[in-house]
Amino acid sequence: MDRIVEIDKISFENEYETSLRPTTWDDYIGQDKIKRNLKVFIEASRKREECLDHALFFGPPGLGKTTLAYIISNEMNANIKMTAAPMIEKSGDLAAILTNLEEGDILFIDEIHRLSPAIEEILYPAMEDFRLDIIIGSGPAAQTIKIDLPRFTLIGATTRAGMISSPLRDRFGMHFRLQFYDKKDLAQIIIKASHKLKKICLDDGAVEIARRSRGTPRIALRLLKRVRDFADVKDEDEITKDRCDFALEELGVNDLGFDELDIKYLELLLDSKGRALGLNTIAAALSEDEGTIEDVIEPYLLANGYIQRTARGRIATRKCYELFKLTPIEIGGLFDNGENI
Ligand SMILES: Nc1ncnc2c1ncn2[C@@H]1O[C@H](COP(=O)(O)OP(=O)(O)OP(=O)(O)O)[C@@H](O)[C@H]1O
Ligand SMILES: [Mg+2]
Repeated sequence: MDRIVEIDKISFENEYETSLRPTTWDDYIGQDKIKRNLKVFIEASRKREECLDHALFFGPPGLGKTTLAYIISNEMNANIKMTAAPMIEKSGDLAAILTNLEEGDILFIDEIHRLSPAIEEILYPAMEDFRLDIIIGSGPAAQTIKIDLPRFTLIGATTRAGMISSPLRDRFGMHFRLQFYDKKDLAQIIIKASHKLKKICLDDGAVEIARRSRGTPRIALRLLKRVRDFADVKDEDEITKDRCDFALEELGVNDLGFDELDIKYLELLLDSKGRALGLNTIAAALSEDEGTIEDVIEPYLLANGYIQRTARGRIATRKCYELFKLTPIEIGGLFDNGENI
């Protein structure tokens, strides 16, 4: 299903995302703690005229991981080479990437949890000692050739913090977990973007879009683009709150930013009458793959307390029952909608 609040798992950059992507700290709104820390680390390594330490970004899609990598490269005055783990199939692929780096370059690997163990092995000495170990031949005659690499910074991004192997995670000197954005920050992102798009979105309109963006800049920008279409067709010079209300209604995005799939997911949990549901059961019921459910649907619902993950599976919380105007009854820490189990 094509969702207006859908997020591509591996984002292949499209034109508007590139044009609206912040390139400086001033344009990068929110994530204040990460920004504060990174500014210090960047300044320190610039003072020492050293490469920045390797950095790992965790967080649901569309929160600004790739954007941060670009800003870092800007701030460090470094070239950035972008790749994604699924594109590195053979050890030779990675060796070619590494040997083509120049001193001070940044290598960005998206979806880094998807690297195969054999490829990770090659990455370890490269990250630690800036050295490539190539094994030629096999058995007793096998030889290791060591090639020195230029000093570089690896930036890894992943939507699945739990799936990255711990030896790999430990080799990153900096770990940052991105948070969902609050309404105020999202509204600011929307207003800034609307200036770039040369169709100014009024404050109350921006708040309306922000409210329905699931805490995610990529969704906010996508909704802004669609709302702008409605305003363009009506020959309006600005994007007003009324236009936003109308367009968002037409697009089928509800008050909380939930779309059909979120609602179906929540209804499933509510219908289970307090029983915890496993990921595979949910995936089968919604005809979606487990990855989409874990990466795209659940993080926002979890972060906002609509669902809980327990050892036995997922359950709807009291807040969720209240949202659907059902009466929650707590049974042994779980909830029930009042019917017999
Ligand atoms: N803090 C921010 N301020 C302004 N715009 C932002 C911010 N974070 C993200 N964006 C915008 O949201 C869009 C998506 O961000 P980005 O591509 O960096 O997400 P991501 O975390 O890399 O997602 P994915 O996991 O899908 O790769 C970008 O086009 C960028 O313009
Ligand atoms: Mg990205």
